[in-house]
Amino acid sequence: MVITRHAKARAVLDDSRYVPPPVRQDGREGTLAWLRARVSRFSSGPAHARRRALLTERLATLDPAALRQAARTVTLERQGDWRGVPTAVLGAALGVADTSPVADAASGYLSGQESPASDAAVAALLDQADVPAITLLLQAHASVEGLIANALTHLTPGADVESVLHETLRHDPPLHASRRLDQHTGDEVSIDLVAANRDPEVFAEPDRFDAARGPAPHLTFGTGLRPCPAPAHALALAAGVLEALIDGSTR
Ligand code: HEM
Repeated sequence: MVITRHAKARAVLDDSRYVPPPVRQDGREGTLAWLRARVSRFSSGPAHARRRALLTERLATLDPAALRQAARTVTLERQGDWRGVPTAVLGAALGVADTSPVADAASGYLSGQESPASDAAVAALLDQADVPAITLLLQAHASVEGLIANALTHLTPGADVESVLHETLRHDPPLHASRRLDQHTGDEVSIDLVAANRDPEVFAEPDRFDAARGPAPHLTFGTGLRPCPAPAHALALAAGVLEALIDGSTR
């Protein structure tokens, strides 16, 4: 079933009968499958509560303002070549010096698509960091870069970076769907975030990109029982990169 209405999407995300579809638990130690079996994102019940608590503890040690400043500085140092910057900045803050394996590990993290390259990347990350730090890097990588890429299509001279980011999150979310399994019926449910974020019952003129809208109740960071624990960190990394790109283009 695909859910496109905002209210129904919220109801599913609020209801503990819906859980993330389970992932295989028999992956060889140190592989992508092994990692996916150990992270908060794909677990439920007490394991999810325990793992999520470790992540929020780790996130609390990261200052969004410092991430923003670092993202800005590194983007300027790289003369606007911003791909990889959010991940490098987050990695440095988490004590992970070499973030070059993150892209390969992240490519199969959400989909479960396994490959020798993603397994090797996970092994290289495990040499440097624990599972919570790796989880944060893999969750952040594609979503923050996607947000920046989408925001760049709307960034006009003089625009307020935060306003553009908030409306980009609603209008052009970097992630298009969230999946759940109904534990009572065994049915899979897919929440269409693009459609829910443009539900006319919640958003006036939903198809219009309007940076003046302000923070809107979009579902791009999820909601309910297991929302993204890091919206402030995501926005800070993206804002730092965008500020540097604006600075660089006006010099
Ligand atoms: C624009 C950027 C981002 C978007 C749109 C986003 C969106 C989301 C969403 C929708 C979920 C819930 C998925 C679900 O259960 O269906 C989620 C979970 C998560 N996100 Fe984010 N995220 C972003 C950036 C980040 C960043 C920067 C971090 C870490 C620094 C992060 C860490 C996590 C973690 C650890 C979870 C799993 C939470 C749990 O298991 O309960 N995310 N994110």
